[in-house]
Amino acid sequence: MTDFSQRTILAAVAWPYSNNHLHMGHIAGAYLPADIFSRYQRMRGHRVLMVSGSDSHGTPVTVRAESEGITPEDVFHRYHSSFLNTFERLGISFDLFTSTNTKNHMDVTQDFFLTLMNKGFLYEAEQTLLFDPEVQRFLPDRYVEGTCPMCESENARGDQCDDCGSTLDALDLINPRSKLSSATPVEKPSKHWFLKLSAFTEDISEWLHAQTTWKPQVKNLSLGMVGNELPDRSITRDLTWGIPVPLDNYETKRIYVWFEAVIGYLSASIEWSQSEKNTTGNPDIWKDWWLGGNSESYYFVGKDNIPFHSIIWPAMLLGYGGFNLPTNVPANQYLMMGGTKASKSRGTAVWMPDVLDHFHPDAIRYVLTASMPESSDSDFTWAEFVRRNNDELVARWGNLVNRVLAMTHKNFDGKIPPAPASPALESTVLLTLSEEAFARSGQAFDKIELRKALNEIMEVAAAANKYLEDRAPWAALKNDDIGFAHAAETLHTALQVISNLAILLTPILPFSSKQVWELIGNSPDSSLTDWLPQAINGGVSLPTAKPIFAKLDLDLVEDIFVTT
Ligand code: MF3
Ligand code: ZN
Repeated sequence: MTDFSQRTILAAVAWPYSNNHLHMGHIAGAYLPADIFSRYQRMRGHRVLMVSGSDSHGTPVTVRAESEGITPEDVFHRYHSSFLNTFERLGISFDLFTSTNTKNHMDVTQDFFLTLMNKGFLYEAEQTLLFDPEVQRFLPDRYVEGTCPMCESENARGDQCDDCGSTLDALDLINPRSKLSSATPVEKPSKHWFLKLSAFTEDISEWLHAQTTWKPQVKNLSLGMVGNELPDRSITRDLTWGIPVPLDNYETKRIYVWFEAVIGYLSASIEWSQSEKNTTGNPDIWKDWWLGGNSESYYFVGKDNIPFHSIIWPAMLLGYGGFNLPTNVPANQYLMMGGTKASKSRGTAVWMPDVLDHFHPDAIRYVLTASMPESSDSDFTWAEFVRRNNDELVARWGNLVNRVLAMTHKNFDGKIPPAPASPALESTVLLTLSEEAFARSGQAFDKIELRKALNEIMEVAAAANKYLEDRAPWAALKNDDIGFAHAAETLHTALQVISNLAILLTPILPFSSKQVWELIGNSPDSSLTDWLPQAINGGVSLPTAKPIFAKLDLDLVEDIFVTT
């Protein structure tokens, strides 16, 4: 029977260039929000497909390969494994994390290219490009750097400016310099293919105007870029690493990395659908996420990727015909590191493999969620990392669990105390608060307001701590008049609230929620899969308790991560 309340949701996450490890900025910007959203929607029983992969082509990868004297393929393999390892350790739950270096992706991309060409949305033209006269090579994209014509940042590259988010034409850079030599680039003609974006100006503009759920900054930035007419863009490059142009006489050129990488969302969905990860037995099931308009798609990207997902990819989808356009592009702003954007190239990045060597994955997930750059840039500092870990995660949540479990083990023989026959008002109020948090935080998760969702949940933890202080079960146990029944009610209620909190926190803190879930007497293979409170039962024996989170010492953390 068809379940009409079940939604079909594509979580499409930006494809990281496989030219370096992931850093905290990537995680806070795209991977963690996508994962939290997907985990929540799965718990709601919706059909979620969460895909991404390594962006293995283009000048970010070739520039790195040349600087190390190895092949682009070697660079790709090295960082692709690093990504998979980071996602595994951090619990980023992709249905498929593939790469653009697959036969499937090449086939889908070339089909896209030829279809757009046959429909008249591509044309060939001679283009004036920057050329390095010393090494005799064209200088596509990142092979040239210079001053941004929009914001005057000196860190702009031939393809875009990270500081203002503009997509650029290398010819417009002020004072261009070659990355391959000290030579000043000269202009030289070369034949290339162009995407007729201008043909989509009206459709894209109307579609953008009609979006009511997008973040204002994403919508406004996109509309600002559409302007009066979208400029056509070249979609091939003078390079030998990348997807071949499926036409004769193009052997020395490749399809532009940005044209093909966005197609990855589609090719990855197809790859997943045809793999054994898809347990439905229907190899065409990817169509449920892409055709027919009954599905939703969310593109989790950082601020600098917005126009590719809000303008260019939608135009490509319209041109091909039949595919669903993005439901939302919930792009995050930047996670700043000491005042500058966390950036690989400027050495201000904190690498995930190092971070994961030193902290519980949920401590990282907690802090990054609490300070996620959802609506404005947020500044990351180790002092704030340690403060949030110690004062919020450990003091509010970890200690609540520890205290209640310790008292239960000590005074109730490690068994959940019986439910009270007629609970006191404050017990009912706390329980109700924790039950209502499912709807309240649920709405925030659904709207991808993850800081708010976390806040709603942590409010419940704070109320539970207050309840414990007020009812002081440790004192009750020593006082024969109030006695055992009072303490039993307090601990039973607290354990029920802890159970609710473990479920509520699962999208954000999947590892520790599972640990808590087991510590309150659930079997290791019972899973935390539904977005609903579950009643605990008096009498159930609890396993030996152990602390889950650890307090951190700022001096020690800074010794490891702050280089002077
Ligand atoms: N590799 C790009 C970056 O790191 C993102 C590509 S997203 C995709 O900025 F949509 F093109 F895949
Ligand atoms: Zn700029």
